[in-house]
This record gives sequence, structure tokens and C-alpha cells, in this order.
Amino acid sequence: MTTGALHIDVISIFPEMFEVPLNTGIVRRAREAGLVSIAAHDLRDWTTDKHRSVDDAPYGGGAGMVMRPEPWFAAVESLRGASLREQQAAGRAVLLTPQGRPFSQVVAQELAQEPRLILMAARYEGIDERVRDHLVDDEISIGDYVLSGGEIPAMVVVDAVVRLLPGALGSAASLREESHQGGLLEYPHYTRPPDFRGWGIPDVLLSGNHAQIDAWRRVQRLHRTSDRRPDLIADADLTAKERKFLADAAQE
Ligand code: ADE
Repeated sequence: MTTGALHIDVISIFPEMFEVPLNTGIVRRAREAGLVSIAAHDLRDWTTDKHRSVDDAPYGGGAGMVMRPEPWFAAVESLRGASLREQQAAGRAVLLTPQGRPFSQVVAQELAQEPRLILMAARYEGIDERVRDHLVDDEISIGDYVLSGGEIPAMVVVDAVVRLLPGALGSAASLREESHQGGLLEYPHYTRPPDFRGWGIPDVLLSGNHAQIDAWRRVQRLHRTSDRRPDLIADADLTAKERKFLADAAQE
């Protein structure tokens, strides 16, 4: 893209599913601000038969249907443009599938660096293996469960990536401190009233001492992550002192 903005194409047989999420909240604002352009395409626009069919019975038999390769190749190739050179500059074709690599904040950050993404949201039992082998650059799963199609996973990826684009959020600080940045969960938040049904708020937040507040929040992130998601600690961005702090806390 010459503009420097990210361009995302989504291909699906249900492009209308994307209307609301693409026109709501931060994603909408990012589009309006020109940080990203997103187009949802109908896979059936690349079929050539009169029934616009995208699936067929599996070779070897068995239940369910398999998505045919031709419409996927036609769609991705036409979106990329004809020349090999453009194809190389065209960014990643990503298939959403439960067999893909696990999606995470780190993967979202990686995708946010690309100039262009082509998200392939498949349906039915599966997709012809030649699509994976010869068309797809990357395969992503949003979790170890099976959804009825790749549309919701594609929306998850779009949302997580778009909010990382510079300028998409109100302030860069909200990005820096949120859950999974630096591999830690977020600290707890409080707003008015200071007493709600007899439940107060931590005194330090009223102290006006920002160094103390920052230190308290950091400790909260450490405790929270080690309590709720101990699996994240090994890869988190911690100082040696913080690692010792957590080890000591675990001892107690
Ligand atoms: N398609 C169906 N289930 C999925 C999942 N968990 N992640 C990505 N794509 C999918």
C-alpha cells in the first residue's frame, strides 16, 4: 500500500456478518481516520458455475462437504493482482482454522506490521488441502474449540490488530498498560464513587503520589498474572527483582 495504511481483505460466503463489527467503535474510527481499509468479499463472486457453488463431496467418502479450491485461488489471486511481484508485496493470506497457530497479543502485533492481510474465513467441514499447501501463507486458530466458520475468528483478528495501529486508541498509554502487553495481565481499575455499598478503594489511589501508584499497579499486575495465569509468567517482561519478588511471594 502506498498510503502506509494497513489494508485488510476478508473472504467469506457470509460477508454481511462483518457489517456491524466493522462499523462499530474503534474499528470504525480507525477506518474513518484512514488508518486501515477493510473490505469484506463474497467468495461466491469468484465462482464460475450457475449455482455459484463453493463446496463438493469429499474424495474418499465420509460425512460433510469440502470447500473447493478454485474459488479460493481465484479470489486470493485476483485480490493480490496478477504479477508475481505484486503478489510478493501483497502481504499474507491467512486461513482461520482450529489447526492454525494459536492467536495471541504477540501474533496480533506481528500482523499489525504487515502492509496487507487477506483473511480467509472458511465454512463447512473443511477446505481442500491444496488451498493450505499452495495458497495460504499462515494459519491461525483463536482457541481450542471449533466454531462453525472462520468469520468470527477473522473478526477477532481484525479487532485485535486494528486497535494496535498507531493512532487507533485514544492514548498510547492505554495500550502500554493493558492485559497481555509485556506478557502480564492488567491491574485493577476503580472509579467513583469512593464508597460503593460499603466497599472502598485502595488508599494509594487517592494519595496523589504517582510513583507510589505506578509501583502499586505493577505489583497488582504481577500478583494477578501469577494467580490467574501462572503460565504467562515464564515469558513475561520482568526484571530480575520482580522475578525474585514473585518467587518470595510463592514461598510464603
Ligand atoms: N474455524 C473454526 N473454529 C476456529 C477456531 N477455533 N479458530 C480459527 N478458525 C476457526
